Amino acid sequence: MANTQINQSLDDDSPMEKIENESQGLLLSSLPIEKGWTGLPLYQYQGFWCHAKGIQAAISFRKHFHALDSDIILVTTPKSGTTWLKALTFAILNRRRYIFSQNPLLTDNPHDLVPFFEFKLYTDNQLPNLADLPSPRLFATHIPYPWLPDSIKNSNCKIVHLCRNPRDTFVSYWHFTNKARPEFLGPLSLEKGFEMFSKGITGFGPFWDHALGYWNENLERPQKVLFLKYEELKEDITYQLKRLAKFMGCPFSIEEERDGVIDEISRLCSFDCLRNLDVNKSSAKSISYFENQTLFRKGEVGDWVNYLTTPMVERLDQLMEEKLGGSGLTFEVYPQLRK
Ligand code: A3P
Repeated sequence: MANTQINQSLDDDSPMEKIENESQGLLLSSLPIEKGWTGLPLYQYQGFWCHAKGIQAAISFRKHFHALDSDIILVTTPKSGTTWLKALTFAILNRRRYIFSQNPLLTDNPHDLVPFFEFKLYTDNQLPNLADLPSPRLFATHIPYPWLPDSIKNSNCKIVHLCRNPRDTFVSYWHFTNKARPEFLGPLSLEKGFEMFSKGITGFGPFWDHALGYWNENLERPQKVLFLKYEELKEDITYQLKRLAKFMGCPFSIEEERDGVIDEISRLCSFDCLRNLDVNKSSAKSISYFENQTLFRKGEVGDWVNYLTTPMVERLDQLMEEKLGGSGLTFEVYPQLRK
């Protein structure tokens, strides 16, 4: 069944399609493989690392998804604040639909309200019917730019990209994946995790290639791709919410600003508010096999200072200079390197 669906309508000769033409077993066995952070193998597919299920879902998504001009696609690097971005965009889009006390964000996890293509819609060879969803449709993904369906790249739909400084992203990723590791494997050491991150081996990594793909598109087509940083959201959420709403085509009116709508949204989606909701304290799993409570840890900029050694920071800085130098993409890290 799986391969029947994957082999449907091979219509071009791109590397992605050639791989689809083979059985899933052959595809995976032909790819570079590394033991992943949670114990599951990661495969390197067209330059990016991903679990088998994710690759299969990405292929299916690329083949079957048809973007509409009105769609809004959220793209994040893992652990950059995806949950927060989903909450913020859902709240912006639906602000006239619900009174705040009845907002679905109070009872549902943001991942249930804004589905991932690769972890929900196209996982396990599902072919979802998305045609009847109300407009604008709001979706999310961690998929790197080169893997996106052409209809997303070429239509007038909008992409909102969020990333985060690599030091905090790494620390957050390390904590998160350790919570999902089976007990018999024991925890992954910080040193081993750092080595993997530095080699680019993370889900949908390398971190720098993932970010650069969207950064470059944002430079070329700023009306198509909005590039946000976690640190900037933290620094001035009101300004960033206005920017986001305007980009999404639903700017706040003067009356809404005066009536405190922006403040309400930022409060509703804040770390403290979301984390303390029953649905987000629970062991329910709104994405994949990760419990909702593991999505909320500290929610700060600069927690890296409690984990990374000076040589690690220097190594990471050097790597970012090598990979991102000259691109214009830089990150705030807040605390200084500890002595
Ligand atoms: P930390 O591990 O540093 O605390 P993602 O949603 O992409 O998985 O990212 C998870 C990171 O975002 C975690 O960072 C988590 O605590 C933080 N986070 C979750 N909700 C947040 C919110 N509403 N505001 C700010 N940060 C949030």
